[in-house]
Amino acid sequence: MPKPKVLATRPLFPAARTILDATCDVEYFPPGENPARQDLLRRVKDKEGLVCLLTDAVNEELLRNAPKLRIACNVAVGFDNIDLPACTKRGVVATNTPGVLDETTADFAWALMMAVARRIPEGEALARSGKWGGWDLDQLVGADVWGKTLGIVGFGRIGRAMARRAGGFQMKVLYHDAARVAEDLEQELHAEFRDFNSLLAESDFVSVHVPLTPETRAMFSAPKFFRMKPTAFLINTSRGPVVDENGLVAALEAGKIAGAALDVYENEPFILPGLKRNNVVLAPHIASASLETRTRMACMAAENMTALFRGQRPPNMLNPEVLRNK
Ligand code: DGY
Repeated sequence: MPKPKVLATRPLFPAARTILDATCDVEYFPPGENPARQDLLRRVKDKEGLVCLLTDAVNEELLRNAPKLRIACNVAVGFDNIDLPACTKRGVVATNTPGVLDETTADFAWALMMAVARRIPEGEALARSGKWGGWDLDQLVGADVWGKTLGIVGFGRIGRAMARRAGGFQMKVLYHDAARVAEDLEQELHAEFRDFNSLLAESDFVSVHVPLTPETRAMFSAPKFFRMKPTAFLINTSRGPVVDENGLVAALEAGKIAGAALDVYENEPFILPGLKRNNVVLAPHIASASLETRTRMACMAAENMTALFRGQRPPNMLNPEVLRNK
C-alpha cells in the first residue's frame, strides 16, 4: 500500500522525521525557507496530512486547496492559526502540542522578567561597547524581583509553572483566570485569586499566559495599563494580539508602567517602532525554543499524524468530533 502523502512546512528535527517517514511519504519544505503562501497552497493540493507551524494559516483558503486533507498537525500548543470550525466542517482533524513546552516557556518568561527588571540587555550592550568606565554606585540600577508580587494572567499549565518558580524568589503570587482553580491547588502553589483589575493594581510583575481567543484579544487595552503601578512591568510570552501595542506604547511613554518584556507581537514579525525602547526587552517569539522542547514538539506533531494513518486516534485532537462518528 502506498504511504499517505504528507507536507511538512519545515524540515523538522531528525527525531520527528524518523517518526513521520516510517508511516508517511513526506515532502519537507527546504531548510531556511519560509513557505510562500502560493507555494504552500500548491504543494498541499494532493496531500492527506499537513505538519504546520503557527505562522501557517490553516483556513478556508488552504482547506479549499487541499481536498484530500485529513489532518493538520500544528507544531505549537497555541492554535489561533487554525480555523477549527472550518476544519471540523470539512472533516479535517486538527492537533496541537500541549504539555511539552510549559516549563521551557515559563523559564523564558522568567528570564524576560529578570532581564527587564535588572536591565540585562542594557548592561550587556554597555559591557560590549568599550565605553564602560567601571563599577559605579548608581549604574544601571534596576528593580528587585525577589520578594515582589507576581500577577499571573491565565492560570493554565504555563501560568502554574510560573507560580512554582515564584516560591524560590519569595514572591507573593496572584492569579487571574476565567474561573478560580481548586482550593488545594491554590494552596499548593501559594497563589491567590484576584479579579483582573485588582491583579493589575497589586502586581509588580504581570505575566501573561492566556491563549488568543475572541475574549482575550486586546484584553490588555490602554486603560488597563493605567491601572498598573508606575513601577510595574508587563511580561508577555503568550500571543501578541492579547496586548494592544499602541496602548502599551502610550503607557510606557506616559510612565504609567516601568517597562515590558515581550516575546510576541500583534503583527509578527513586525515590531512597532515605539516598543524599541530601553525599558522594553524584545525577543523574537522564542519562549519554547530549547532544542529539547522544540524536538519534543515536532515529535508530538509527528505522532499525532502517524496515529491517524495507523487507524488510531491522534492523542492531541482539537476537534475530536471529527472522528466521533467514524
Ligand atoms: C506555542 O506553542 O504556541 C508557542 O507560541 C510556540 O512555542
